[in-house]
Amino acid sequence: MSSTEAVRSNDYVVQPISNVLGAEIIGLDVSEPLDVRALAVIRQAFIEHHLLVFRNQSLSDEAQVAFSKQFGQLEAFPEADKTRNAIEIYNVANVSPEGEQFDINDHRAIYQKVNARFHTDSSYRTIPSLASIMYGMEVLPDSAEGGETEFSNMFLAYDALSEQIRARLEPLHMVHYYEFGRRLYPELPPVSIEERRMVPPVTHPVIRVHPDRNNRRSLFITTNAGNEIGGMTLEEGQALHAELAEHVAQPQFCHRHRWQRGDLVMWDNRCLLHRAIDYDMAAHRRVLRRTTVAGAGPIAGPFSGTS
Ligand code: OGA
Ligand code: MN
Repeated sequence: MSSTEAVRSNDYVVQPISNVLGAEIIGLDVSEPLDVRALAVIRQAFIEHHLLVFRNQSLSDEAQVAFSKQFGQLEAFPEADKTRNAIEIYNVANVSPEGEQFDINDHRAIYQKVNARFHTDSSYRTIPSLASIMYGMEVLPDSAEGGETEFSNMFLAYDALSEQIRARLEPLHMVHYYEFGRRLYPELPPVSIEERRMVPPVTHPVIRVHPDRNNRRSLFITTNAGNEIGGMTLEEGQALHAELAEHVAQPQFCHRHRWQRGDLVMWDNRCLLHRAIDYDMAAHRRVLRRTTVAGAGPIAGPFSGTS
């Protein structure tokens, strides 16, 4: 578990925000290019806390892309209905990029609901993402219920498993596929041929090791892009997946981020799951925009020769 003491580095303060994950970085304007020292502080805090919050930021799309590129190459969202201005920007909103609130039956609104299940971004890709960076443009009023993003720490979820279950999971792989999320809502349009070609089903180890944490083991599953485990019967795999899905959602691993306008939140997709908490989409506008740092390579498990 990370320390909950605030760390001061002359101008910046790294203030942990819960016992399980996350820290706020206070005193940094991220709209300007970071100097070497600021970048080092962020990198270190990211590795230690997995989720970083920068409050009261004012970021154009270009500034968010520039900030994000300091941590690696960005993923692209070529699908027209997900992009906002730039191909690297994912419009996470019940509002169109032009500012018009979607009808609750609009597939772009329904699509947001797929995010309400615990997942890690781009796990359906051969190389899942390293980090996601999300900026709060329009958020729910304080009086409204829901709309938070909840994060669950997969190091802690792994550590809480019995030796017996860990040994059982160690060699397993989960099947991840983009189409699964679409099928959760039959009213969504089927995946296109292009999407199918871009993101065919893939498998990843259920236990992964973290390269920046001395190959510490964590649980790596999703609940919005699959529910099957390779090498087991369909029923056994789905039963195991359901057990794990219940396990990761326990409050002792979780922290909820309540959005304020101007929040920039960056998290490690290699060791956290996240989900959107439901809110009244007809009553409230919620506009976040996401950039996504691509992973460095296929996911390493305990048998990948890196541990
Ligand atoms: C996402 C996502 C969560 C949210 O865009 O990948 O999971 O709270 N969003 O909207
Ligand atoms: Mn997500």
